[in-house]
Amino acid sequence: MHSQNMGVLVEDTGEALERTMEARFQDHVVVITGAGGGIGRATALRFAAESAKVVAVDLDKSGLEETAVAIQQLEGEVLIHVADVTYADQVEGYVTAACEHFGGVDHFFNNAGIEGPRVPLTDYSEEAFEQVLAVNVKGVWLGMKAVVPALRERGGGTIVNTASIAGLGGTPFAIAYGASKHAVIGMTKTAALELAPDQIRVNAVCPGPIETRMMRSIERGTNPDQPEVEYERIKSRIPLERYGEAEEIAAMVAFLSSDDAVYITGGIYPVDGGSRAR
Ligand SMILES: NC(=O)c1ccc[n+]([C@@H]2O[C@H](COP(=O)([O-])OP(=O)(O)OC[C@H]3O[C@@H](n4cnc5c(N)ncnc54)[C@H](O)[C@@H]3O)[C@@H](O)[C@H]2O)c1
Repeated sequence: MHSQNMGVLVEDTGEALERTMEARFQDHVVVITGAGGGIGRATALRFAAESAKVVAVDLDKSGLEETAVAIQQLEGEVLIHVADVTYADQVEGYVTAACEHFGGVDHFFNNAGIEGPRVPLTDYSEEAFEQVLAVNVKGVWLGMKAVVPALRERGGGTIVNTASIAGLGGTPFAIAYGASKHAVIGMTKTAALELAPDQIRVNAVCPGPIETRMMRSIERGTNPDQPEVEYERIKSRIPLERYGEAEEIAAMVAFLSSDDAVYITGGIYPVDGGSRAR
């Protein structure tokens, strides 16, 4: 090709790419659970920055309010909705609120989760086990159950479930958390197969240690007197030699939810600084 034409082609492609980036979620509605916490908030902000309307769901009202202020600073549109993901009526409530306020749902980031205690499996209480499974397994299933009809109404959509590297291997002293995140991966694959005919893509993101409240709690749970020692120990085992940032998970979720990932479903994606390469 003539070099001048080549220049025009490159310029056109660049402009087209810029338009694609800006428009990835223009007029789209995303529902995000756990949006008052670290990863959920960062992802809400990422979607808002890419022009999506955000429905932010959490148990924690003050966390949601902080998320809303941050989105409004970006001049984004946000609806906050307090709900406990373990109750079917409250889950249906956040989907109904999204449909009534924004007219429908295109993307779902099914992300609320709890870590549970750090204790040997022999000391783990039934109550703690049931609570971790209620939030991390039942809450994720109920979310998909309630959102899917709304995605079908739109002729398709996307779901990203938050699993963990704890869903890809054993996690000593976190029997229920490890079980729950393996279950999220199983549900993601099952849902991807069931929902492919509806043009609903379902993927999972598997964060390694990320700089949020949850890791601070895990460090304290493992070494109450010197959590900073536990922080250094965990960090030293990560090939990239640092914890991840919530924004680095948000980037993967946005990619998987976008048309850039239009041929990807049933995929399980570690974002972990190389931890699972060991
Ligand atoms: N931080 C990490 O290192 C890490 C690593 C792997 C996976 N994850 C997963 O990422 C997700 C987000 O975690 P995070 O790091 O942002 O932690 P976080 O504690 O900052 O956020 C979790 C949010 O979920 C909300 N939540 C908890 N139970 C709920 C319920 N029953 N109903 C509604 N909301 C509820 C909490 O109020 C909180 O705002 C979780 O599923 C977690 O298991 C985190």
